[in-house]
Amino acid sequence: MASGDSDFSSRPSSARIYDALLGGNHNFAADREAAQNLLAAIPLAGDMARANRAFLHRAVQYMLDRGVRQFLDVGSGIPTVGNVHEIAQRRIPDARVIYVDIDPVAVAHSNDILKDNPWAAAIQADMRFPEAVLEHPSVRRLIDVNEPIGLLLVAMLHFVPEDDAYQAVDALRSALPPGSYVVISHGVLDTPADAKEQEITALYRRTDVSAARGRTREQILRFFGDAEIVEPGLVWVHEWPGGGNGDPAGMAVVAAVAQV
Ligand SMILES: C[S@@+](CC[C@H](N)C(=O)[O-])C[C@H]1O[C@@H](n2cnc3c(N)ncnc32)[C@H](O)[C@@H]1O
Repeated sequence: MASGDSDFSSRPSSARIYDALLGGNHNFAADREAAQNLLAAIPLAGDMARANRAFLHRAVQYMLDRGVRQFLDVGSGIPTVGNVHEIAQRRIPDARVIYVDIDPVAVAHSNDILKDNPWAAAIQADMRFPEAVLEHPSVRRLIDVNEPIGLLLVAMLHFVPEDDAYQAVDALRSALPPGSYVVISHGVLDTPADAKEQEITALYRRTDVSAARGRTREQILRFFGDAEIVEPGLVWVHEWPGGGNGDPAGMAVVAAVAQV
C-alpha cells in the first residue's frame, strides 16, 4: 500500500502498526513510523507479535480438536498468513468464522479475502458495544448460538479502557453456550516494558484506539469470569502448549484459554 494515498494515511492505527510489526503490507508510512518507534521502545515487540499470532493458531487447533466449529474473532486485525478461517476450514471446510474489528481498513481487507467464502465474514464493530456484535446480521446468519463457539480476544483488550472492557467481555462471554471457549492474550504489567509506559501511551494516543495499557495477571484473569481455565493456566504467550522458545524476561504478553 503506498503511503499518502488515503484519508487513513496520516493517523496510525493499532491494526496497521501490528501489521507493520508482522512484516505485512497493509499499512501506511505513519503506521510504519509508529511501528519503528514501538520497536525502539520495546525491541521485542516484533517477536511478541509473532509469538502472539502463533498462540492464536495453537488455540484455534486446540478448540477444533475439542469439536468447536464456529469462531468469533474480536479485534481480528488485518488479515495475515494463517487467519482463523484458513486454519479452521483446512480441517472443517464449513467451519464458521466471524471477524470483528473497529478498523475499517482491516475489515475491508478481510471482506476482500472472504468474498467467495460463504462461511466467513468480517464486520466493523466496536466491541465496547457487544450487542452490536451479537446482533449483527452476519453473526446471526453464520453463528448458531446453540453450538459451542470459540471467542477470541487476542492481543486486543489492552486497547480497551477499564470499565468498557469488563462489561463488554462479560456480555460476550455470557452469550456463549456451554462447551464454548474464551481465548485471551493480553499485555501484562510488571515487565521491563513498564519502563516504557509513557512512550507507549504517547505513541498510541495518536492512533484510533487512544491507549494501550497492560493489566496485572489478576486483572486479566477477571475477564474469564466463571469459565474454567485450561492447563497450563495464564502463561507467557509463547509458553502456552505447543509454542516455541522465547525470552520470558523480555515478554510482555500473557495468554490463557478457558471453557465456559
Ligand atoms: C494488535 S491487533 C491484534 C490482531 C489479532 N487479534 C492478532 O492477535 O493477531 C488489535 C486489534 O484490535 C482492534 N481493536 C481495538 N479496539 C477495538 C474495539 N474496541 N473493538 C474492536 N476491535 C478493536 C484493532 O483495530 C486491532 O486490529
